[in-house]
Amino acid sequence: MGTERLASRLAAVVGPAHVLADPGLRASYETDFTGRWTGRARLVVRPADTAQVAGVLRTCREAGIPVLPQGGNTGLVGGSVPTPAGDQVVLSLRRLDTAGPVDPDARQITVGAGLTLSALHGRLRPQGWEFGVDLASRDSATLGGMIATNAGGERVLKYGTTRANVAGLQAVLADGTVLDRLAGLPKDNTGYDLTGLLVGSEGTLAVLTAARLRLVPRPRHRVGALLAVDSIAAATALVTRLRGLESLELAEFFTAEGLDLVLEHTGLPAPFRARHPVHLLVECAARHDPTDELAELLADADLLDAAVAVDAADRHRLAAYRERHTEAINAAGTPLKLDVTLPPAELPGFAAELPALLDGRARPYLFGHLAEGNLHVNLLDVAPADEEAVVLAVLGRVAAAGGSISAEHGIGRAKARYLHLTRSAAEISAMRAVKSALDPAWLLSPGTLLAAPD
Ligand code: MLT
Ligand code: ZN
Repeated sequence: MGTERLASRLAAVVGPAHVLADPGLRASYETDFTGRWTGRARLVVRPADTAQVAGVLRTCREAGIPVLPQGGNTGLVGGSVPTPAGDQVVLSLRRLDTAGPVDPDARQITVGAGLTLSALHGRLRPQGWEFGVDLASRDSATLGGMIATNAGGERVLKYGTTRANVAGLQAVLADGTVLDRLAGLPKDNTGYDLTGLLVGSEGTLAVLTAARLRLVPRPRHRVGALLAVDSIAAATALVTRLRGLESLELAEFFTAEGLDLVLEHTGLPAPFRARHPVHLLVECAARHDPTDELAELLADADLLDAAVAVDAADRHRLAAYRERHTEAINAAGTPLKLDVTLPPAELPGFAAELPALLDGRARPYLFGHLAEGNLHVNLLDVAPADEEAVVLAVLGRVAAAGGSISAEHGIGRAKARYLHLTRSAAEISAMRAVKSALDPAWLLSPGTLLAAPD
């Protein structure tokens, strides 16, 4: 089907104003925010509700047109933008940004896939509730995208990944069939867990349109601290001790090199007078004030420096040193982003070995979520000819140590050819069978996660 005819059929579903054909209007949907992943959409289509999503999918399925679902386009593995081939329709879910009332008995809320995490936080805060998942891209990341990628973020040690915080989903299959699992029942053993299957499926099995989310009561008190230590090994040991505190909610680390970039990019004042090798950002939250228990635990810790934040403004000030790493690294170049998990005992050894693995072929910046052994290995100045070898050196080492080649960003297009490093042939073939069953023509998010059959 020609693009003009397709556009007019899609316009009949969503209205002409919501089918974007003009290259200028499409541009923000075609490139990710690192600038590394870019492509060309045949059209961008912006449905308003589940019925329109189903209509778009039916139309594309009949015409054999591949569809790329997109949320806030904050993904980091190329799964949120179309390929350069220019054959995919980008299906933006951003207009599905509704939020229902909080259900205090079930401790749940139903939201549209296009609601941003910040908008959800803003809605819940005055009502005394919270969604356990939080991450630095909260202003643009949408709940649908976070669920599709099973986003992790900063509070996994307390609340788990997005998967643990989703009680149900509404989704549309490639043929337009709507699956409705929004009841959110805490006990419901009636067959395959379709919600669990779709969480983390990266847009390859269905298009997520709404979600039933688990909530937690908002803790009355939160305290934060920025701690400086002399090594990643010391930071890891400190996190092990801090985990003795039930109130511990967040334990994030970054190094001096990353902080230098953040200070240069943001103009923020340095957190301490001296430059320290490693920083650990921690936050504790509870019904009681956790300041004393945190101070007690830190009293005999081997710290080079420490700053404590008791009010929200101060906490945000300290968190900025960690949260602004992504934009600061982007400003310094186009990073090759790796996102790995290592068993905690392997972390210090991996970090120490990294320069040898890279062998001068990249400038590394390490930061991430220490409690889960999740290192963001951001590499700048990698020559295109070295990329493959560098990625294989790092991911191969991670696989050999029993880690994962994607902790929280997903596989997308960036890691699809490395999936076999940490998933067995039997597992990959089971995944392919599921994909073929739910999307027989392989029209949803082609090239993401699994290579299409020849
Ligand atoms: C983060 O932890 O800030 C995110 O995963 C983004 C990133 O890795 O750049
Ligand atoms: Zn992260």
